[in-house]
Amino acid sequence: MAHRSLYRPLFVLGLVACCAAYAAAQDTPRAHPLTNLPPAGEISTGYFFPGYPTRQFIAGEPVKVVLGVRNEASENYNISMIMGSLNNAQEFRAYYWNFTQQLYFQIVEPSKELSVEYTFLPPKDLPPNDYQVALTVFYEAADGFKSTTFFNQTITVLEKGQLIDWKLIFLYAIFIGLVFAGAYFAWSAVKESPIYKNVVGKRTRKVEVSRAYNDDEWVKGTPYDNFRKKKAAAANKGSPKKGQ
Ligand SMILES: *[C@@H]1O[C@H](CO)[C@@H](O)[C@H](O)[C@H]1NC(C)=O
Ligand SMILES: *[C@@H]1O[C@H](CO)[C@@H](O)[C@H](O)[C@H]1NC(C)=O
Ligand SMILES: *[C@@H]1O[C@H](CO)[C@@H](O)[C@H](O)[C@H]1NC(C)=O
Repeated sequence: MAHRSLYRPLFVLGLVACCAAYAAAQDTPRAHPLTNLPPAGEISTGYFFPGYPTRQFIAGEPVKVVLGVRNEASENYNISMIMGSLNNAQEFRAYYWNFTQQLYFQIVEPSKELSVEYTFLPPKDLPPNDYQVALTVFYEAADGFKSTTFFNQTITVLEKGQLIDWKLIFLYAIFIGLVFAGAYFAWSAVKESPIYKNVVGKRTRKVEVSRAYNDDEWVKGTPYDNFRKKKAAAANKGSPKKGQ
């Protein structure tokens, strides 16, 4: 117990020093901020991955996460930074990668909300697999640093090209649809055009006449049959005239 009470202030000092070192972007700090997280403050969080709703990330492609923070405390919080790590999905203690921290230093007042964006990069040569990603936001109150791990879940990392790109498939479908619609309208326009009628129309008329001759039995004896015969006779009379 005596150890702990001694250790706490030292730790906070260490974290401050460590953040200062990060801010200055110089030496590697002695204690990594993710090794021993500060206690949680009173915030509620929400997040979403705009580009990856299914949380299937692609090795070598940056992943953006939007974090919404709501300050539920009665004091201001200074949102300092977000950091994250990529861990073994079965054994969280085995970490593979620490994502670069991003600094914000933005104040969120009591009962107010703030959203920040954090981008991390699953390493390019990461073997496709399930991993556990933990993302932690650090913020500072009057009594020191606090942290909240707002995302700590299993995700899938895929190789580039492995992901079924529904957006792209959808675009292809629309494109093919448009091509067919275009072809149909073009065909309709051509069909109605005088040139097409001149070229193909005569042939079509001939086909119609010959079909009239070979009509089925069922019209025999009906008024239509008579009409048809007359029409055929007229066509027969007409044809030789044309030839002369
Ligand atoms: C990554 O984070 C872990 C804590 O989760 C820490 O122990 C380790 O030193 C960090 N590694 C690097 C290279 O910063
Ligand atoms: C937030 O914290 C940073 C780092 O401690 C500090 O430099 C900055 O002035 C703080 N912002 C406000 C408005 O207090
Ligand atoms: C993330 O969840 C694992 C269990 O799945 C747990 O062991 C680990 O401590 C959590 N990490 C953080 C930073 O909360």
